[in-house]
Amino acid sequence: MAWDHGYYSHSTYSSGFFRELAPSWLDFAALIKGHSPPRSEEGQPFHYLELGCGMGFGLCLQAALHPEGTFLGIDFNPDHISHAEGLRRRLALTNVRFLEADFVALAADPAPLGPAPAFGGGYQYVVAHGIATWVREPVQHALFAVASAALRPAGLFYCSYNTQPGWLGRTTFQKLYALERSRADPADPRAPLRRAIAGLRELLGTAEQPSALRHAIPLLEDDLAGLDPEQFDYLCGEFANDGWQPLYVADLHQRCQAHKLHPLGSATLPESFEQLLAPSLKGLIFAEVNPLIRQTMIDLATHKSFRRDVFVKGLDPLTLQDAEQRIGGLGLMPLQPPLSPGQEAEPFTFATSFGKVQGDPAVYGPIADRLAAGACTISELQDLSGQSTAELLMILSLFLDAGWIGFHRGRLANAGKLMAQAQRCNVVLMDLIAGGRPYASLLLPEVGTALSVTLVDVLIHKAIAEGLQDPMLSTCVLMGLEQMGVHLLASDKSPISDPEAQLERLGTLITDFRERRLPILQRLGALPKPKRR
Ligand SMILES: C[S@@+](CC[C@H](N)C(=O)[O-])C[C@H]1O[C@@H](n2cnc3c(N)ncnc32)[C@H](O)[C@@H]1O
Repeated sequence: MAWDHGYYSHSTYSSGFFRELAPSWLDFAALIKGHSPPRSEEGQPFHYLELGCGMGFGLCLQAALHPEGTFLGIDFNPDHISHAEGLRRRLALTNVRFLEADFVALAADPAPLGPAPAFGGGYQYVVAHGIATWVREPVQHALFAVASAALRPAGLFYCSYNTQPGWLGRTTFQKLYALERSRADPADPRAPLRRAIAGLRELLGTAEQPSALRHAIPLLEDDLAGLDPEQFDYLCGEFANDGWQPLYVADLHQRCQAHKLHPLGSATLPESFEQLLAPSLKGLIFAEVNPLIRQTMIDLATHKSFRRDVFVKGLDPLTLQDAEQRIGGLGLMPLQPPLSPGQEAEPFTFATSFGKVQGDPAVYGPIADRLAAGACTISELQDLSGQSTAELLMILSLFLDAGWIGFHRGRLANAGKLMAQAQRCNVVLMDLIAGGRPYASLLLPEVGTALSVTLVDVLIHKAIAEGLQDPMLSTCVLMGLEQMGVHLLASDKSPISDPEAQLERLGTLITDFRERRLPILQRLGALPKPKRR
């Protein structure tokens, strides 16, 4: 058997940051389920393990945001580990390490993970993002075994994965693609992808003369339209793994339970509030007491395709008083507009995996207004709104999910070190982005998360920092893009080639950066605040 156990390892993975992997986000996911989080307060030291850390970008950012934590990233792909280690060095981080290792070998001998929990070791958090349903079953079992062995009692395991029934249609494509790959000419590795997409399209028939397949899976045409052969690496990373198998939630939960990992909730926060389900579904689903059947029913009805589940090794439910106290003390902070969406036609409309949710402006409005005014605790919001804790947590989960607010890290003992480290790392990250690295996030130390940025944002910021004014500012950004071979894109993502249209578009982007993006980055500690005159 090859070292990759049939996992697609011919290209490296993308470098992303996922907010749901932050300790404060995972703590909140446990708290809203009435469970004690692994840390008793923000700022407490902790140990964090990422299984399948890829290029290490997300883990380096988590380490930079949490100097009080120690972080270990595991991946069996040496290209991933050498990239991660190089980034760690450039960011001068001392609290994160990377290890080239295979889950199967670690399941047999977990010694490289450090001392066992009984000897003062063990991790409060173990995360595995986008792995469980892309590897063969024995590797998946090894992944869960390692997570379980590494966790301290009451530690949290985050596992995101593709679920059924949301991928049922695309299993037809995956099958044809796997067969095309098995007879492929190595000189033309892209041919199987093109053939599988084109072949399946033809098998659908036409709108006028539909095939039985089109009748049975009407969404398949849209699914196929979303498969762009130009995105070769992404599509291989998704579909070219021998172990690719989206699972029904019940199967994945049972496999985790076999390793003492108990399903607790979801890091897709609104999914923890079943009252958000459509009224027509509630009768049957709420009457079902078996959790595996209930979750399966929800996924079937909502055609779920992806889950971010949180498991715990060893239950430690909070008493009602403890829960109120822990929740009440949590700090929140405004992240991005629109937090006061009063001007919108349908204010407080949220797109969730349960469908569109419409909040009552009379209830949601005052809470959003208070949050827009600055950091506050949940108990302040409780006093202000008079809502029950459950109702308030649901509203805040919708705000968090929409990216309107984040967790305020509060007054930390290491606040000075954190701020200085994050701002130093952001300078390095911006240099790397401007130099062509495909990174797209900057650290927001006040809220323990990251903000998406584009190459254009970074080039504009650099030009402003050098004191350039228009028209030099725009010319400099355009030259930067040209050097990188990157097109300036219109709002509909089409490339702009006309020089006048480019200057006009850039003018809009520069205004947006100055008036909206830059203040967010400064307010949340990503960049130094402007000096007062
Ligand atoms: C989809 S990527 C996720 C990367 C990272 N977690 C992220 O979200 O950016 C899955 C990672 O798991 C790694 N992986 C797959 N099977 C593995 C195994 N048996 N042992 C160690 N790493 C493995 C792959 O090399 C890959 O980097």
